[in-house]
Amino acid sequence: MMKPTLYELPSLPYSPDALDGFLTAEMLELHHDKHHADDVSKLNATLAAIAGARSENRTAELPALHRRLAFHGSSHVLHSLYWTSMSPAGGGKPVGELARAVERDFGGMAGLRRQFLSVCEGVEREGWGILAYEPIGDRLIVTSVEGHHGAGFQGAAPLMVCDVWEHAYYLGYRNRRAQYLQGFFEVIDWQSANLRFERVCRPVQAAF
Ligand SMILES: [Fe+2]
Repeated sequence: MMKPTLYELPSLPYSPDALDGFLTAEMLELHHDKHHADDVSKLNATLAAIAGARSENRTAELPALHRRLAFHGSSHVLHSLYWTSMSPAGGGKPVGELARAVERDFGGMAGLRRQFLSVCEGVEREGWGILAYEPIGDRLIVTSVEGHHGAGFQGAAPLMVCDVWEHAYYLGYRNRRAQYLQGFFEVIDWQSANLRFERVCRPVQAAF
């Protein structure tokens, strides 16, 4: 019987010191090599535990295992998107179709920036800020996630994400989350966000 593939830690799309000035190599390596890697490992272990519980009929274990699956799986997805939400050549303004949608849904870049940064700053304890495309309303939204998977907007496709867990910034910024967020906005890879918008969002919207 074919076995499902295991999840793998993606390589960083740039060298660890590429964002120096915003995030040091030490910060990026700790975040990627330890925190993200740990969740990939736990995601695979959780899937194996679910398969074992299912085949051995230990069904009482399944609900708790599925909460762990959502936590570690969502962490892996969001961290994978986080690395490609930033670029040493990033910053500036949205491009392409995304630029037009930002104008329509936020009144322009200044509106998006104000909303995105205040949502990220307001995430209680650990979580994420997300710029996403919501296909039923055919619009961009800013949303936040508690932990890795709580209080999200179901069905909205993430275009650009910002990690606001303390492990993303504490080594360099201590408790100054707002300062980290200002720096994040200067390295956003708008090309990458626009590619996701143009390649993913239109087909998703057609499915609704
Ligand atoms: Fe993280």
